[in-house]
Amino acid sequence: MGRLIAVVLGLICAAVMLPEVAAVRFTVGGNVGWSPNVNYTVWAEGKHFYNGDWLFFVYDRNQMNVLEVNQTDYESCNSDHFLHNFTTGAGRDVVPLNVTRKYYFISGKGFCFSGMKIAINVENPPPPPSSSPQKAGSNSQFSTLREILVPVLFSVAAAWNSIVMIL
Ligand SMILES: *[C@@H]1O[C@H](CO)[C@@H](O)[C@H](O)[C@H]1NC(C)=O
Ligand SMILES: *[C@@H]1O[C@H](CO)[C@@H](O)[C@H](O)[C@H]1NC(C)=O
Ligand SMILES: *[C@@H]1O[C@H](CO)[C@@H](O)[C@H](O)[C@H]1NC(C)=O
Ligand SMILES: *[C@@H]1O[C@H](CO)[C@@H](O)[C@H](O)[C@H]1NC(C)=O
Repeated sequence: MGRLIAVVLGLICAAVMLPEVAAVRFTVGGNVGWSPNVNYTVWAEGKHFYNGDWLFFVYDRNQMNVLEVNQTDYESCNSDHFLHNFTTGAGRDVVPLNVTRKYYFISGKGFCFSGMKIAINVENPPPPPSSSPQKAGSNSQFSTLREILVPVLFSVAAAWNSIVMIL
Protein backbone atom coordinates (compact mmCIF):
# COMPACT_ATOMS: atom_id res chain seq x y z
CA MET A 1 0.00 0.00 0.00
CA GLY A 2 2.77 2.43 1.04
CA ARG A 3 4.75 1.49 -2.05
CA LEU A 4 1.80 2.09 -4.34
CA ILE A 5 1.17 5.52 -2.83
CA ALA A 6 4.86 6.35 -3.18
CA VAL A 7 4.99 5.32 -6.83
CA VAL A 8 1.83 7.26 -7.66
CA LEU A 9 3.22 10.31 -5.83
CA GLY A 10 6.46 10.05 -7.79
CA LEU A 11 4.63 9.80 -11.11
CA ILE A 12 2.42 12.78 -10.33
CA CYS A 13 5.45 14.89 -9.36
CA ALA A 14 7.25 13.94 -12.58
CA ALA A 15 4.21 14.68 -14.74
CA VAL A 16 3.48 18.03 -13.14
CA MET A 17 7.03 19.36 -12.97
CA LEU A 18 8.30 18.61 -16.46
CA PRO A 19 6.89 19.90 -19.75
CA GLU A 20 6.73 17.02 -22.25
CA VAL A 21 7.54 18.86 -25.47
CA ALA A 22 9.51 22.08 -25.89
CA ALA A 23 8.45 24.74 -28.39
CA VAL A 24 9.74 24.31 -31.93
CA ARG A 25 11.04 27.08 -34.18
CA PHE A 26 10.32 26.24 -37.82
CA THR A 27 12.49 27.84 -40.49
CA VAL A 28 9.91 28.51 -43.21
CA GLY A 29 10.94 26.69 -46.39
CA GLY A 30 13.85 24.94 -44.69
CA ASN A 31 17.15 25.54 -46.47
CA VAL A 32 15.63 27.68 -49.24
CA GLY A 33 13.94 29.96 -46.71
CA TRP A 34 11.34 32.55 -47.73
CA SER A 35 11.86 32.98 -51.46
CA PRO A 36 9.97 32.93 -54.77
CA ASN A 37 8.97 29.79 -56.67
CA VAL A 38 8.62 27.57 -53.61
CA ASN A 39 5.36 25.76 -52.93
CA TYR A 40 4.89 26.46 -49.20
CA THR A 41 1.76 24.31 -49.10
CA VAL A 42 4.01 21.37 -49.91
CA TRP A 43 6.57 22.52 -47.29
CA ALA A 44 3.89 22.71 -44.57
CA GLU A 45 2.33 19.36 -45.52
CA GLY A 46 2.64 16.73 -42.83
CA LYS A 47 4.03 19.20 -40.28
CA HIS A 48 2.25 19.92 -37.03
CA PHE A 49 2.35 23.47 -35.71
CA TYR A 50 1.40 23.77 -32.06
CA ASN A 51 0.40 26.78 -30.02
CA GLY A 52 3.68 28.07 -28.59
CA ASP A 53 5.79 27.19 -31.66
CA TRP A 54 7.50 29.84 -33.81
CA LEU A 55 7.97 30.52 -37.49
CA PHE A 56 11.31 31.89 -38.64
CA PHE A 57 11.34 33.71 -41.99
CA VAL A 58 14.79 34.11 -43.58
CA TYR A 59 14.94 36.17 -46.78
CA ASP A 60 16.45 39.01 -48.78
CA ARG A 61 15.60 42.04 -46.64
CA ASN A 62 15.97 44.39 -49.62
CA GLN A 63 13.22 42.67 -51.56
CA MET A 64 10.63 40.71 -49.58
CA ASN A 65 8.69 41.11 -46.36
CA VAL A 66 6.40 39.16 -44.02
CA LEU A 67 2.80 40.25 -43.62
CA GLU A 68 -0.05 38.44 -41.90
CA VAL A 69 -3.30 38.76 -43.84
CA ASN A 70 -6.74 37.17 -43.72
CA GLN A 71 -7.79 34.21 -45.85
CA THR A 72 -9.34 36.33 -48.63
CA ASP A 73 -6.22 38.45 -49.01
CA TYR A 74 -4.02 35.34 -48.83
CA GLU A 75 -5.93 33.80 -51.72
CA SER A 76 -5.89 36.98 -53.82
CA CYS A 77 -2.36 38.09 -52.82
CA ASN A 78 -3.64 41.43 -51.56
CA SER A 79 -1.35 43.17 -49.07
CA ASP A 80 -3.30 46.44 -48.87
CA HIS A 81 -4.93 45.67 -45.53
CA PHE A 82 -2.54 43.34 -43.74
CA LEU A 83 -3.35 42.37 -40.16
CA HIS A 84 0.21 42.36 -38.81
CA ASN A 85 3.55 43.44 -40.23
CA PHE A 86 6.27 41.10 -38.95
CA THR A 87 8.99 42.73 -41.06
CA THR A 88 11.79 44.01 -38.84
CA GLY A 89 14.22 44.98 -41.60
CA ALA A 90 16.83 42.32 -40.86
CA GLY A 91 15.44 39.72 -43.28
CA ARG A 92 15.17 37.38 -40.30
CA ASP A 93 11.73 37.62 -38.72
CA VAL A 94 10.33 35.51 -35.93
CA VAL A 95 6.56 35.01 -35.68
CA PRO A 96 5.04 33.53 -32.50
CA LEU A 97 2.21 31.08 -33.21
CA ASN A 98 0.55 31.93 -29.92
CA VAL A 99 -3.13 31.37 -30.76
CA THR A 100 -4.80 28.12 -31.87
CA ARG A 101 -6.19 29.19 -35.25
CA LYS A 102 -5.30 29.49 -38.92
CA TYR A 103 -2.61 32.00 -39.88
CA TYR A 104 -1.99 33.38 -43.38
CA PHE A 105 1.26 35.05 -44.38
CA ILE A 106 2.31 36.59 -47.67
CA SER A 107 5.16 38.68 -48.96
CA GLY A 108 4.10 42.04 -50.31
CA LYS A 109 5.88 43.84 -53.16
CA GLY A 110 4.38 41.39 -55.67
CA PHE A 111 6.21 38.31 -54.43
CA CYS A 112 3.02 36.62 -53.26
CA PHE A 113 2.20 36.09 -56.93
CA SER A 114 5.48 34.13 -57.23
CA GLY A 115 4.32 31.74 -54.55
CA MET A 116 5.46 33.58 -51.40
CA LYS A 117 2.35 32.75 -49.39
CA ILE A 118 1.80 30.29 -46.60
CA ALA A 119 -1.20 29.09 -44.59
CA ILE A 120 -0.45 27.57 -41.19
CA ASN A 121 -2.94 25.66 -39.08
CA VAL A 122 -1.99 26.00 -35.41
CA GLU A 123 -3.22 23.19 -33.17
CA ASN A 124 -3.38 22.70 -29.44
CA PRO A 125 -0.40 20.71 -28.18
CA PRO A 126 -1.25 16.98 -27.92
CA PRO A 127 -1.72 15.40 -24.49
CA PRO A 128 1.67 14.12 -23.30
CA PRO A 129 2.11 10.38 -23.97
CA SER A 130 5.42 9.73 -22.18
CA SER A 131 6.60 7.21 -24.80
CA SER A 132 6.17 9.55 -27.79
CA PRO A 133 9.35 10.46 -29.68
CA GLN A 134 10.63 13.99 -29.25
CA LYS A 135 9.73 16.50 -31.93
CA ALA A 136 12.54 17.21 -34.36
CA GLY A 137 14.45 20.37 -33.53
CA SER A 138 13.06 20.64 -30.02
CA ASN A 139 15.17 21.67 -27.10
CA SER A 140 16.69 18.60 -25.47
CA GLN A 141 17.33 20.33 -22.12
CA PHE A 142 13.98 19.23 -20.78
CA SER A 143 14.56 15.57 -21.56
CA THR A 144 17.98 15.76 -19.87
CA LEU A 145 16.32 17.38 -16.87
CA ARG A 146 13.75 14.61 -16.92
CA GLU A 147 16.44 11.92 -16.96
CA ILE A 148 18.00 13.46 -13.86
CA LEU A 149 14.84 14.39 -11.98
CA VAL A 150 12.74 11.28 -12.45
CA PRO A 151 15.19 8.94 -10.61
CA VAL A 152 15.55 11.58 -7.87
CA LEU A 153 11.78 11.75 -7.47
CA PHE A 154 11.56 7.98 -7.32
CA SER A 155 14.29 7.88 -4.64
CA VAL A 156 12.34 10.40 -2.62
CA ALA A 157 9.19 8.32 -3.13
CA ALA A 158 11.08 5.15 -2.04
CA ALA A 159 12.39 6.88 1.10
CA TRP A 160 8.90 8.08 1.91
CA ASN A 161 7.68 4.51 1.37
CA SER A 162 10.22 3.24 4.01
CA ILE A 163 8.94 5.78 6.50
CA VAL A 164 5.38 4.62 5.89
CA MET A 165 6.51 0.99 6.44
CA ILE A 166 8.13 1.88 9.81
CA LEU A 167 5.03 3.72 10.93
C1 LIG B 1 1.24 23.62 -54.37
O1 LIG B 1 1.03 22.25 -54.05
C2 LIG B 1 -0.32 21.98 -53.74
C3 LIG B 1 -0.39 20.57 -53.18
O2 LIG B 1 0.31 19.66 -54.00
C4 LIG B 1 -1.19 22.20 -54.97
O3 LIG B 1 -2.54 21.93 -54.66
C5 LIG B 1 -1.02 23.66 -55.40
O4 LIG B 1 -1.73 23.86 -56.60
C6 LIG B 1 0.44 24.01 -55.60
N1 LIG B 1 0.53 25.45 -55.82
C7 LIG B 1 1.17 25.96 -56.86
C8 LIG B 1 1.16 27.45 -56.94
O5 LIG B 1 1.72 25.28 -57.68
C1 LIG C 1 -10.39 40.16 -45.33
O1 LIG C 1 -10.27 41.57 -45.29
C2 LIG C 1 -10.93 42.21 -46.40
C3 LIG C 1 -10.64 43.69 -46.34
O2 LIG C 1 -10.74 44.21 -45.04
C4 LIG C 1 -12.42 41.90 -46.35
O3 LIG C 1 -13.06 42.48 -47.48
C5 LIG C 1 -12.61 40.38 -46.37
O4 LIG C 1 -13.99 40.07 -46.21
C6 LIG C 1 -11.83 39.74 -45.24
N1 LIG C 1 -11.94 38.29 -45.36
C7 LIG C 1 -12.14 37.48 -44.31
C8 LIG C 1 -12.18 36.02 -44.59
O5 LIG C 1 -12.31 37.92 -43.17
C1 LIG D 1 6.67 46.86 -41.90
O1 LIG D 1 7.52 47.31 -40.86
C2 LIG D 1 8.83 47.64 -41.31
C3 LIG D 1 9.68 47.92 -40.08
O2 LIG D 1 9.07 48.86 -39.25
C4 LIG D 1 8.75 48.84 -42.24
O3 LIG D 1 10.03 49.19 -42.69
C5 LIG D 1 7.88 48.46 -43.43
O4 LIG D 1 7.67 49.60 -44.26
C6 LIG D 1 6.52 47.94 -42.96
N1 LIG D 1 5.82 47.39 -44.11
C7 LIG D 1 4.59 47.75 -44.46
C8 LIG D 1 4.02 47.10 -45.67
O5 LIG D 1 3.96 48.60 -43.81
C1 LIG E 1 0.78 36.85 -30.02
O1 LIG E 1 1.88 37.42 -30.67
C2 LIG E 1 1.57 38.62 -31.34
C3 LIG E 1 2.78 39.05 -32.14
O2 LIG E 1 3.90 39.22 -31.33
C4 LIG E 1 1.14 39.67 -30.33
O3 LIG E 1 0.81 40.87 -30.99
C5 LIG E 1 -0.07 39.16 -29.57
O4 LIG E 1 -0.42 40.04 -28.55
C6 LIG E 1 0.21 37.79 -28.97
N1 LIG E 1 -1.06 37.24 -28.46
C7 LIG E 1 -1.13 36.51 -27.34
C8 LIG E 1 -2.48 35.96 -27.01
O5 LIG E 1 -0.17 36.33 -26.60
